[in-house]
Amino acid sequence: MNIVVGVTGGIAAYKTVHLVRLLTKAGHDVTVVPTEDALRFVGTPTWEAISRHPVTTSVHDDVAKVRHVALGQAADLVIVAPATANTIASMTAGLASDLLGTTLLATVAPVVIAPAMHAEMWRHPATQANIATLRSRGVHLVGPAEGELAGGDTGPGRMSEPEEIFAAAEALLTPRDLAGLRVVVSAGGTREPIDPVRFLGNRSSGRQGVALAAEAAARGADVVLVAAHVESDVRAMAKHPSVRIENVGTAAELSVAMADAAADADVIIMAAAVADYRPARVAEHKLTKEQGVLDRIDLVENEDVVAGLAAARSAGGAPDGQTIVAFAAETLTDADERRERARRKRERKGVDLLAVNLADAEHGFERADNAIEIIGADGAVVGEASGSKREVATAIWDAVQMVR
Ligand code: CTP
Repeated sequence: MNIVVGVTGGIAAYKTVHLVRLLTKAGHDVTVVPTEDALRFVGTPTWEAISRHPVTTSVHDDVAKVRHVALGQAADLVIVAPATANTIASMTAGLASDLLGTTLLATVAPVVIAPAMHAEMWRHPATQANIATLRSRGVHLVGPAEGELAGGDTGPGRMSEPEEIFAAAEALLTPRDLAGLRVVVSAGGTREPIDPVRFLGNRSSGRQGVALAAEAAARGADVVLVAAHVESDVRAMAKHPSVRIENVGTAAELSVAMADAAADADVIIMAAAVADYRPARVAEHKLTKEQGVLDRIDLVENEDVVAGLAAARSAGGAPDGQTIVAFAAETLTDADERRERARRKRERKGVDLLAVNLADAEHGFERADNAIEIIGADGAVVGEASGSKREVATAIWDAVQMVR
């Protein structure tokens, strides 16, 4: 989606850097339009680097492309963060004194503002009247939050956190077609301990599962995210009021958390990479060479979690119409062979949909991008997607909606 982020002259501008980062990471095309004042807080190079687009404040640059209206016309969403009292007043009056002003006048896209100012300025009848006018025109407000303000005062006026503004933006851009659904998504990779400091693990970062959870929440679902060793910066991308995160470590812990959450879930997506085996014994103390050379680790098989959930469903232990989706990371490069293996795997596991991804150097594990095919009930390919993990998540939820 095309998003314009207007930045105005407040100290909270530094937090908007993170907001732009969240938006670009989610796959959006972001153009930053600062006011002259905003550049006193955060400069052009930062905005250009973080948005990967040229940045100007002036209506006189790029005149041939009629930039002062083109940006607003092309936008799917405009965010103003921080929105100072002055900018809020300008917006209310419809002033077109800079590129942000013209963009706001030229757009018919939804507009989100995140006010930031001193508490007195926020409470002033002039500001409150402006806010009421903007609201009546359909402008969406995020915050301001209560808290410490510049200069040490406290009160309402603090710009909301970037994650909150991001969630509001996503909510406006996304259809709420999953509203009312309870969903469980697993993400990350399990670790099976060998001794207190070593484990058998895999290279899953959890990004695809987190993107699935974030997409579901944005589309209105209530989400439980069962996260196995997902780095906190990845996990933060699922931060949303409708997402509850449960952290787990081993396949056995993941199994318990999934069974609990699945008992009243409408949709389950198993995106976690679960270890198929675990060491038969976990050494109580760190294994050392003084004890001799370790030339083997005996393994026992872990239960197949998703197959267990499908079996529980068949036995009546799940809400009617529960949909289960599994993943398969395959290294087979021949597409037909990969599809055939996926068909067998889907049947063996008893799931409704199987998303197959090619795990090679360019795709899959530890990569920002992914490419998948979705195999449905009769073995047909019911969906495919490539691109950011969020784009892939969108395709998977579309396929889930299709089969429900
Ligand atoms: N899975 C699971 N429990 C396991 C292993 C895998 O729930 N013990 C789930 C994964 O989360 C994924 C799907 O099963 O959704 C497929 O995982 P994959 O490792 O490809 O399947 P395996 O059954 O391990 O098949 P194989 O090793 O033959 O590829």
